[in-house]
Amino acid sequence: MKEIVLSGIRATGNLHLGNYYGALRNFVRMQDDPAYDNMFFVADLHALTTNPDPEQLHANVKNILAEYLAAGLDPEKSTIFIQSDVPEVSELYLLLNMHVGIGELMRTASFKDKARKALGIKSDSDDIEKEIIGTDSNKRVNAGLLTYPTLMAVDILIQKAHKVPVGKDQEQHLELTRRFARRFNSFYGVELFPEPQNFNFGANAVKVPGLDGSGKMGKSEGNCIYLIDDEKTLRKKVMRAVTDEGPKTPNQPVSQSVENIFTLMDLACAPDVVKHYRDAYADCSIRYGDMKKQLAEDLLKITLPIRERILDIQNDDAYLARAVKIGAERARERAAATLAEAREIMGIRKFY
Ligand code: ADP
Ligand code: TRP
Repeated sequence: MKEIVLSGIRATGNLHLGNYYGALRNFVRMQDDPAYDNMFFVADLHALTTNPDPEQLHANVKNILAEYLAAGLDPEKSTIFIQSDVPEVSELYLLLNMHVGIGELMRTASFKDKARKALGIKSDSDDIEKEIIGTDSNKRVNAGLLTYPTLMAVDILIQKAHKVPVGKDQEQHLELTRRFARRFNSFYGVELFPEPQNFNFGANAVKVPGLDGSGKMGKSEGNCIYLIDDEKTLRKKVMRAVTDEGPKTPNQPVSQSVENIFTLMDLACAPDVVKHYRDAYADCSIRYGDMKKQLAEDLLKITLPIRERILDIQNDDAYLARAVKIGAERARERAAATLAEAREIMGIRKFY
């Protein structure tokens, strides 16, 4: 029996290098490993938690799907689907919520973060619970945001997935998923859900830094290089990346912003190229302009072919439809079987 691998990305915008190196490239590698039965989806229901414009949501789902396929996910090898194409997920979400505590959901870091944003609170006071209950009615934290981890747990548990390749920021959600699985199993005295583990193919989890000197590239940070960026845009972004005034003494420690550039080079450039610039930094002969030009060049070698394929695939509605239709069928089959078991276990049984 192959191990089931499952992961998804929320449909909230185009994919950037952080998503590519942190998630998508891993997906593609796992797909080619015969040990795994892979399922990758676009999380459109999760994107609803921030109430997106309907046209924009649909466009985002299409973009991410095209980006998955352009980066190398193959509907012949992996089950590729859209979350909302599996309605069984929504039903199990209702059932599993009966065993989830609102306290444990409210203590989730990502919930506190998003709730604060929704309420426009700047401080990181732990009194977010009070703020939510006491808030006036025109600012609200929707219940979907609170139960985001239940929905994510259901995505995973309904497919009985063993391995979930995601970035470090999702670790708390996975921990909750394991807890909900254990709780359900022990409450009913069954072994329905396996406990899923985070997984990174080969190497340690990567964290792709931002171009603005910050620690993380992220959509909401506005510091991203997107897979879809054209040549001019990408070059401009890289050339504008924050650095410093340059090393003054040999072997001087590297500042965060320059270290970020080296980290990106480690991902995109050949090792001897990175070494050349590290040595140049150490002996103070480095020219950041040259280093950035090199980085842009090597990044373009990776992103431009993907960009070409994204543009092609975005226009190929028939291919997109075919890919997610077979994906939905396979994902629904497994989901329906798990849901039927869960209903039976919980005592939801039919009279006819
Ligand atoms: P964003 O932070 O831009 O909103 P998401 O939260 O939608 O991105 O992340 C989707 C996937 O990409 C997750 O598995 C996440 O761990 C990974 N990811 C996002 N940003 C980075 C990054 N800078 N470095 C490594 N992985 C990342
Ligand atoms: N919460 C994940 C993120 O923000 C997206 C996601 C939803 C997911 N359901 C999932 C990831 C199931 C892995 C498995 O990136």
